Amino acid sequence: MAWKHRHLVDVDVFSDDDFYTVLEEARHMEEVMERPLKKVPALRGKVIANLFFEPSTRTRTSFELAEKYLSADVINWSSSGSSTAKGESLQDTAKTIEAMGVDAVVIRNREVGTPEYLIKKLNGACVINAGDGARAHPTQALLDLYTAWKHFGSLKGRKMVIVGDVLHSRVARSNIHAFSKVGVHVVVSGPRSLIPLHVFDLAEYEPDTKKAASGADIVYALRIQRERQEEGLFPSIDEYHSRWGITASVLSCANKQAIVMHPGPMNRGVEIESFIADGDRCLVLNQVKSGVAVRMALLFLYLTGGAGR
Ligand code: CP
Repeated sequence: MAWKHRHLVDVDVFSDDDFYTVLEEARHMEEVMERPLKKVPALRGKVIANLFFEPSTRTRTSFELAEKYLSADVINWSSSGSSTAKGESLQDTAKTIEAMGVDAVVIRNREVGTPEYLIKKLNGACVINAGDGARAHPTQALLDLYTAWKHFGSLKGRKMVIVGDVLHSRVARSNIHAFSKVGVHVVVSGPRSLIPLHVFDLAEYEPDTKKAASGADIVYALRIQRERQEEGLFPSIDEYHSRWGITASVLSCANKQAIVMHPGPMNRGVEIESFIADGDRCLVLNQVKSGVAVRMALLFLYLTGGAGR
């Protein structure tokens, strides 16, 4: 199927078909990852720049691995190791990238809207949002969707509860769009002070996490974003854990076959109990593996238009 999107800012513009195209393509890419020789020539001759101006472990490394498995040439930029640390503006960085003939830019930045800024400044290179401030993290939502879809087979009619710091979470926003679009009933739970108003238009809100988890198939814990947190949004870490942490008693309210997910990095003992994070029902490491397959799928679709499959 031809892929019509040129850039990936968020998944709110995706149709049902778009989601399933990415999921099917990711399944194919996961087969590639399981071969002894994990390399295909799909993006040979393409140059991809990874611009990470905020810390990242999973997203940065899985994009790099995905690009290498697809035989692209890769340039890695970070704020500390580039001229950004000397005060170079994003506009000048964008012009520099363009002059190098880069085909795609993967960008993570603390400023909301950086992907759109680059789309305007770059003449034609594909821009992929790897997380902009608290707004969107579309590739995380797609890898979460892929992980849950692979696990359950079908997601229509299932219930997902997203628990925690929704206010500062780009993951929550993109996940609400993605899971709702494929027919999942999404409920959010957490301190009222950490639920932004726009979420009430997109999902149900239940402050009591045990009630919210009742009958859930997917229990999704969000990271407390200490780096974006202002004072006084919740009483204390201990109270947060006892009211909104994913514990055995919260999980006992969910369906027997419910899975636990978390985007990482985890604050163990805060938003998730450590033994749950290490338990059989927690798919955190499956999410990491899915991240490589989904990012391979996205790079392939955006840089080739899905041609040849
Ligand atoms: N989930 C996620 O974005 O993790 P990183 O910050 O490690 O990339």
